[in-house]
Amino acid sequence: MKLPHTSLEGKHLPVMIDEVIKICNPKNGGNFMDCTFGAGGYSKELLRFQETKVVGLDRDSHVIKFANKLKDNFKSRFVFHNKKFSNLDVVSTDKFDAVIFDLGLSSIQLDNLSRGFSFKSKSELNMSMGQTEISAKEVLNTYSSEDLKNIIKVFGEEVDASKISRNIVKERTKNNIKTTDELVKIIKKSKKRNFKKINESTKTFQAIRIFVNKEVNELIEGVIKATKILKPGGKLIVISFHSIEDKIIKFYFKNFSKNRSRSNKYFPDNNDKLPLFDNYKNKIIKASQKEVKRNPRSRSAKLRVAIRSADKFIDPEELRKKFKYLTDLEKRIA
Ligand SMILES: C[S@@+](CC[C@H](N)C(=O)[O-])C[C@H]1O[C@@H](n2cnc3c(N)ncnc32)[C@H](O)[C@@H]1O
Repeated sequence: MKLPHTSLEGKHLPVMIDEVIKICNPKNGGNFMDCTFGAGGYSKELLRFQETKVVGLDRDSHVIKFANKLKDNFKSRFVFHNKKFSNLDVVSTDKFDAVIFDLGLSSIQLDNLSRGFSFKSKSELNMSMGQTEISAKEVLNTYSSEDLKNIIKVFGEEVDASKISRNIVKERTKNNIKTTDELVKIIKKSKKRNFKKINESTKTFQAIRIFVNKEVNELIEGVIKATKILKPGGKLIVISFHSIEDKIIKFYFKNFSKNRSRSNKYFPDNNDKLPLFDNYKNKIIKASQKEVKRNPRSRSAKLRVAIRSADKFIDPEELRKKFKYLTDLEKRIA
């Protein structure tokens, strides 16, 4: 019987690992970059195949201990960099057969209640995945009601963003908001009845986390740089967990592939002959029911893969332009 995959600690189950490995096709070796190393689930599985090489990256210094374990076992075939993937171009001059992004938080980060990611915790509002310039506490206590509303509405797609932001400002004039449970109380008070299956705090917590970690800018710069380091025929694999991430990836893959629509207003004619990707089928791969049962986190995961064309790399400036309203919002300073 085939045993279920586990990560190094067994606390984070890598999502769609069979699908990712099948796409990478490492049977005859290959050069892979795992941009979201986490507990190392994908890296470890790729390294099981002889003659593979893996570069792992993660912004979170807490994962260094997992990376060190892999280094002990696969010395010459594995390197790790504690860096954000928006800087992936500085870690290697190699060309890669596949670059993988498994976005968002790991279960280890979410379950470490002291980091303030979980609305189930009573800890300091931090929410940093590592290498950030601002904490959730600073955002909640210093940004204007208008900015908070926009952050919560846009990054959380929260319909009650106005009321939540007004109540945040009202509460903090009495006392600074310091902990996750204080924020949860404000959200509960602000929400009309919650008819959805998800917890009423989910969207606001997601929004603040995206803002603190500048996740949209990271994603856009990360995938552009990943495209640049892929070999012709190399695969860009992205697993996303919320609609903003998937919207960005879908736009990128669809509009920069050989079969993109020619009448697209974003593309001047002279760029038409240089697509970054081969024909793109706009296909989403989802976790099997069996996996969802074993790992509920995989339910919302969407895997997309694009194949690098043999054409010269031309910077996809239109991708940045299209989502500038999001990256500008991430740059807001109180
Ligand atoms: C969903 S987990 C990945 C889990 C991993 N695939 C595994 O099997 O263990 C996402 C990881 O990506 C990291 N991460 C998120 N954004 C990042 C960024 N911009 N640069 C580098 N690492 C990032 C997080 O710190 C987290 O450890």
